[in-house]
Order: sequence, then C-alpha cells, then structure tokens
Amino acid sequence: MSKVLVFACLLVLFTATSPAVRGKYYSDSHIVNVPATIKKTHLHFFMHDILSGNNPSAVLVAKPNGTVVQEVNLLPFGAVYVIDDWLTVGPDPKSKIIGNARGMYASTSRGSDLTLLLSADFEFTSGGFNGSSIGVFSRDPLVVAKEVAVVGGRGKFRMAKGFILLNAVYFNTTNGDAILECHATIFH
Ligand SMILES: *[C@@H]1O[C@H](CO)[C@@H](O)[C@H](O)[C@H]1NC(C)=O
Ligand SMILES: *[C@@H]1O[C@H](CO)[C@@H](O)[C@H](O)[C@H]1NC(C)=O
Ligand SMILES: *[C@@H]1O[C@H](CO)[C@@H](O)[C@H](O)[C@H]1NC(C)=O
Repeated sequence: MSKVLVFACLLVLFTATSPAVRGKYYSDSHIVNVPATIKKTHLHFFMHDILSGNNPSAVLVAKPNGTVVQEVNLLPFGAVYVIDDWLTVGPDPKSKIIGNARGMYASTSRGSDLTLLLSADFEFTSGGFNGSSIGVFSRDPLVVAKEVAVVGGRGKFRMAKGFILLNAVYFNTTNGDAILECHATIFH
C-alpha cells in the first residue's frame, strides 16, 4: 500500500472512532475492578509559610473593600493569600528542600475562631515521589495542632486520599510567619 493510502485508512479509522466526531465528550461507562489492595505511605516534612521579608512565600492578593490588613490583623474575614511554600526535611529553613505547596488560603470565619480554607497542591521534587503531588482541600483552624484532608493526587499519588496532621513548631504572631511540621498518611 502506498503511504497515502495507509494515511487515508488511518484517517477513516480515527474519524470513525473519535468521540469528538460523534459530538460527544464522554465514553460509555464501564464497570471496573478496583485493586483489592491499596498502598499506604507516610510522609514527614516541614512547611514554611513566610509572610515577612522581601521574598515572602505567602502574599495577600485580595481582601474585602475597606478592610485593613496589618500586623495586628493579618487575616480579616475575606482575606486571600496565594502561597508557594517550601517543603523541607527539617524545621530549619536551610534544610533540604523536597517540594513545594502551591495554592492559596482564605480567611473564612466571621467569628473569633480564625479559620482558613486551605487549597494547595503539595508537589515533591526529590526522591521516589519526585514529580508526584497530593492535593489538599480543607478547613484549617488556626490552632497549633490540626488536621487537613488530602483529596487527591498526581503521579504516584494518583487517586490519593488521606490526611495531614499539622503541628506549628514556629509561629510569629506579629508577622504571621509559620513553620508547620507535617505528618501525612496517604492511601493511594
Ligand atoms: C470601596 O469602599 C469605598 C469607601 O466606602 C467606596 O467609595 C468604593 O466605591 C468601594 N469600592 C468598591 C469596588 O466597592
Ligand atoms: C526530579 O524530576 C525532574 C523532572 O523529571 C528532574 O529534572 C530532576 O532532576 C529530578 N530531581 C531529583 C532530585 O531527582
Ligand atoms: C516576629 O516578627 C517580628 C516582626 O517581624 C520580629 O521583630 C520578631 O523578632 C519576631 N519574633 C520571633 C520570635 O522570631
């Protein structure tokens, strides 16, 4: 067969089976057998959320009109910060960086119980999980020890579910800088 003919055949095949051509954006649904076993992985790292200095990892991007955001009240209801926080193996900011948490948090309590909504992708950049990430979407009360939900993941953590126990090992109430110890339990 000539190359042109082969190409023409492939084109016919493709157009006949391509869902886009049928005007559909979904396949037929199939029953799948989920694996009888799932893996459980523990992760231990530290998250550095730094608002101070000239290269902060958390920046204020929005606040309700008229609200004053200052040292005494960094998180008025409605304030939104975008974050790119380093994840390190130890509490020391100079310890080995093994990933980053990129996303945002918003101040979501109208009361005196300061609460954040944390939405971030924690990607690992070294070791066996290099390039894989866990997705956190959770309420985050501003207390020393708390738990956030892991709702998904990418790469080796595809379809992940789990939780992270967070413990603030450093928190500066004046400028908001925090270092959080993270113990994650991931089922994937
Ligand atoms: C913000 O508040 C000021 C003062 O109350 C008002 O003049 C202004 O129109 C408001 N801006 C928006 C975008 O609502
Ligand atoms: C992580 O993966 C990236 C992309 O594949 C690669 O460039 C980098 O060298 C890897 N880093 C480590 C520490 O393995
Ligand atoms: C907290 O931040 C303030 C203002 O940046 C600074 O003066 C102070 O030394 C910090 N405290 C600690 C314990 O790091």
